[in-house]
Amino acid sequence: MKKKIAVLTGAGISAESGIKTFRDSGGLWEEHRIEDVASPEGWRRNPQLVLDFYNQRRRQLLQVAPNRAHYALAELESKYSVTIITQNVDDLHERAGSTQVIHLHGELLKARSVLNEHCIVPCHSDIKLGDKAPDGAQLRPHIVWFGEAVPEIENAIPKVREADIFIIIGTSLVVYPAAGLVNYARYEARKWLIDPNDTPMPLVPNLRFIQQKATVGVDMLVKQLLADV
Ligand code: OAD
Repeated sequence: MKKKIAVLTGAGISAESGIKTFRDSGGLWEEHRIEDVASPEGWRRNPQLVLDFYNQRRRQLLQVAPNRAHYALAELESKYSVTIITQNVDDLHERAGSTQVIHLHGELLKARSVLNEHCIVPCHSDIKLGDKAPDGAQLRPHIVWFGEAVPEIENAIPKVREADIFIIIGTSLVVYPAAGLVNYARYEARKWLIDPNDTPMPLVPNLRFIQQKATVGVDMLVKQLLADV
């Protein structure tokens, strides 16, 4: 039976594809206020501003491509059972070939009804005020905003619990409940964190730190893991 790998990714894995992270210098949260563009209150106050923000993100996503780190994780599936748990709303893991991806914070290429979080449609172009979901209500981005529930966490927890190997890539681990996933990894699981910066290490036993950019660090680790079996 294939060993199980759970991978938790954040904005850092897509940085080298040209998508800005949130909290690095020059990151998205320096230019935009979270409460304006990523909260239900912001949506109620100024939905046009929120739509503009995500329309811009979506247009950019359609112009970038997966990088070596996304492809390397997809290659792991040849010898391991791999689940990617991502905080990212891009589709770069899927485009690189990963087949099991849990999106904790939603997906830019989907939109949903403001009245029903299960009424979801594909979305590859701008959302405008007046655009309607199948239930007749206004469409909004299928993104989990601050203050909203994170239903996919329930699917992610067992994947981390079951994992023989747990890899964390490019996340500041400050947003919960995603950051809390690290606490579900088994004591015996082999664990790595990959980040080029001196990021605070979570208090997790046996966690090894690879201080590299994702394209370099993930490629190195994946080669090693593929050689192990
Ligand atoms: P952050 O912007 O908070 O953190 C990005 C992390 O990536 C940092 O630890 C960087 O050091 C690291 N990093 C930068 N360049 C990298 C590279 N080339 N390779 C690897 N790592 C690199 O992003 P997240 O932790 O993903 O949520 O943020 C979590 C959530 O906060 C996001 O999903 C988003 C945001 O608000 C919502 O919008 C709901």
